[in-house]
Amino acid sequence: MNYQVAGILFIVGLSVAIAVTAVDGRNVLKLPTEASRFFDHADDDSVGTRWAVLLAGSNGYWNYRHQADVCHAYQLLRKGGLKDENIIVFMYDDIAYNEENPRPGVIINNPAAEDVYEGVPKDYTRDEVNVHNFLAVLLGNKTALTGGSGKVVNSGPNDHIFIFYSDHGGPGVLGMPTNPYLYASDLINALKKKHAAGAYKSLVLYIEACESGSIFEGLLPTGLNIYATTASNAVESSWGTYCPGEYPSPPPEYETCLGDLYAVSWMEDSEMHNLRTENLRQQYHLVKRRTANGNTYGSHVMQFGDLQLSMESLFSFMGTNPANDNYTYVDDNSLWASSRAVNQRDADLLHFWDKFRKAPEGSARKVEAQKQFTEAMSHRMHLDNSIALVGKLLFGIQKGPEVLKRVRSAGQPLVDDWACLKSFVRTFETHCGSLSQYGMKHMRSIANICNAGIHTEQMVEASAQACPSIPANTWSSLHRGFSA
Ligand SMILES: *[C@@H]1O[C@H](CO)[C@@H](O)[C@H](O)[C@H]1NC(C)=O
Ligand SMILES: *[C@@H]1O[C@H](CO)[C@@H](O)[C@H](O)[C@H]1NC(C)=O
Repeated sequence: MNYQVAGILFIVGLSVAIAVTAVDGRNVLKLPTEASRFFDHADDDSVGTRWAVLLAGSNGYWNYRHQADVCHAYQLLRKGGLKDENIIVFMYDDIAYNEENPRPGVIINNPAAEDVYEGVPKDYTRDEVNVHNFLAVLLGNKTALTGGSGKVVNSGPNDHIFIFYSDHGGPGVLGMPTNPYLYASDLINALKKKHAAGAYKSLVLYIEACESGSIFEGLLPTGLNIYATTASNAVESSWGTYCPGEYPSPPPEYETCLGDLYAVSWMEDSEMHNLRTENLRQQYHLVKRRTANGNTYGSHVMQFGDLQLSMESLFSFMGTNPANDNYTYVDDNSLWASSRAVNQRDADLLHFWDKFRKAPEGSARKVEAQKQFTEAMSHRMHLDNSIALVGKLLFGIQKGPEVLKRVRSAGQPLVDDWACLKSFVRTFETHCGSLSQYGMKHMRSIANICNAGIHTEQMVEASAQACPSIPANTWSSLHRGFSA
């Protein structure tokens, strides 16, 4: 009720403002519908073309939620009026027809269970979802592409670009379903190039990933007309949501989380309102509150870059769904029941566990789920132990753990020498096996080894000693590594 009253008051206020500033100068109170027609004409010209790049960085059914987030974002932007030719989708596309999917050909992103898969353009799928193609698309460089639809962000100086990424991440890195992963330094360099090319008016990034604050912290300069928000700060996990056994939970036949908390927060907010009446900053605060989730099962949403850009309306980047014309933004989080969430890094375990729990006693499925669970657990222990041992070998029993855990002060980048970080990750994986999604959390330890001035030979020696052999395990397999 409060919501409606406040909404009406807001519309009235808006209409008065328009009456005063309208070009015809007549002092009339405009109706909301007239107001929105006024906006339609006024804003469309000034906005240029709206471009969007949507990327799900994972594969595997246990990562269902990342592709679900991206499909949902596509539907939202289409309803907002963006054209297919301006929305570029990267998704591995192994979910809709996965044998684990209880509804073949359908992907859902929340318990309301509306299909978000239908119509999603398959611009870059399977191995085409890679760092090289992503950067080529962003930079509008068709000749650099390998495979895919060939769609690129062919944008001009009046255009607005929106980038949404959903996946696992770690300090300084965003996951990809292929090798290598996307390092923060390479993303920032591409953004600088795009700016230098004069190829946008403003650019917004929304990043759902663990430790996603580390992608921009101390790295994204101001003055590029870029505004970014991230699901988490530089030192914490982000959270999956709508998970089995949590509330609200997916339909009972789903053994996987349907979405990620930050991702569904911005989308469920955006699809509810007339986006001409809500700006980026308002959405940031709303999403921040929901994603904090009482600070037990949540993370700290952060903002970076040109903060004054956050005064722009969401409409400039997402358009708006005409069906929402009468629903203005209200600063009210009571719209959602609080949603329980699961640490992104544990969502795979939750999937295997739920599969195990539900499978009939003595079935092949039960055995398989148990094996998957055990393998994932033992891979985690192997990685945790190996990296700790490398630290002790390099810095001593006492000092090793302290150096690896060190967190630089706010505003400083994760590492100064990105080439060192890349090379040491490669060294570690060569001797100890793939870091994989879970092991991305150890990126900070490896960055700290670089920051401490360790030389390549020392790192090679320590890794070789810590890991005399790579355990035979699908998770350890080097093709899951990200340093290639
Ligand atoms: C586009 O990519 C190709 C191949 O990687 C490269 O040679 C070329 O310099 C790039 N063009 C621009 C404008 O960056
Ligand atoms: C918005 O409200 C006006 C006036 O009540 C009505 O005519 C119009 O159909 C509504 N628009 C939508 C999209 O519901």
